[in-house]
Amino acid sequence: MNRQTFLRLAGGAAACSLAACQPSGPSGGGAGSGGKRVVGFSQIGADNPWRTAETESIKAEAAKRGIELKFSDAQGQQEAQISAMRSFIAQGVQGIILAPKVETGWEAILKEAKDAKIPVVLVDRGVAVADDSLYATLIASDFVAEGTMAGEWLAKKCGGKAGVIQLEGTTGSAPANDRKKGFEAAMASHPEIKVLASQTGDFKRSDGKNVMEALLKVHGAAITAVYAHNDDMAIGAIQALEAAGRRPGKDVVVVSIDGMGFAFDAIVEGKLNATVECNPLLGEMAFAALEQVLKGEALPKLLVQKDRLFDESNAAAERPNRKY
Ligand code: AHR
Repeated sequence: MNRQTFLRLAGGAAACSLAACQPSGPSGGGAGSGGKRVVGFSQIGADNPWRTAETESIKAEAAKRGIELKFSDAQGQQEAQISAMRSFIAQGVQGIILAPKVETGWEAILKEAKDAKIPVVLVDRGVAVADDSLYATLIASDFVAEGTMAGEWLAKKCGGKAGVIQLEGTTGSAPANDRKKGFEAAMASHPEIKVLASQTGDFKRSDGKNVMEALLKVHGAAITAVYAHNDDMAIGAIQALEAAGRRPGKDVVVVSIDGMGFAFDAIVEGKLNATVECNPLLGEMAFAALEQVLKGEALPKLLVQKDRLFDESNAAAERPNRKY
């Protein structure tokens, strides 16, 4: 069957299902070995367990659906993500799943995908593009709301008075930008909470530790709270606090985001005070969205995940249910 005869385009999407389409794309290679459907997934990297959990979720869902997944780990480089997408397009995949490292710089490659009639589903992080028809949908958490939730909880816990260190995520990424924005919004009504320093720890445990070590030397006892944009950096900060003779979870309030199993363990241990969930298990939703868009069905531009906050009141009970 000729590509043009079965593709009915709706907002840049091809009207066929992942289960039923015939080969597509410039090279006619939309079907993989054994007639399997082919989808490309461009992942940022594997530098923290949250991201690995997301990758596993997408790989497992592809396998469950009998879809051949072309996977690319960009090792933290946006340029490598763009090259991977270009390669997926050249191979004629039926759809692309993209977890974009940063918000900017995606217009050209998304346009290439759109011109090739290959729908792109964004997972976990958004992009800043003027034309939102360049992607099918974004499946993500509300990072601003996460930051606000963490900030309000921290303010209450500290009785409206604290010296805070903010450990930011990857510079230029949607979660770093929005978690900071949400936190600052919460702080606006707490004039006695001072953010002593706000520095990137790149969503990495080692960087969280190093940055915290350096900031402890500068701010010392003035530090009474830490807000980390992810659990990994919080654990790094906890290690630095302990090495400096401080008691994280007790005389320094530590709040973070992601809701990883190890963060629950740290809450139960009394070293982390709270974590706001951010679900990385997006595989099922990502492929369901691709399926819909390939059938020509309309999709909202944003599919938001609902997140909850866990602290000493509910972490132990929830721990056995954690899947990541
Ligand atoms: O985009 C989601 C964020 O990215 C997670 O909070 C973080 O752990 C990951 O690297």
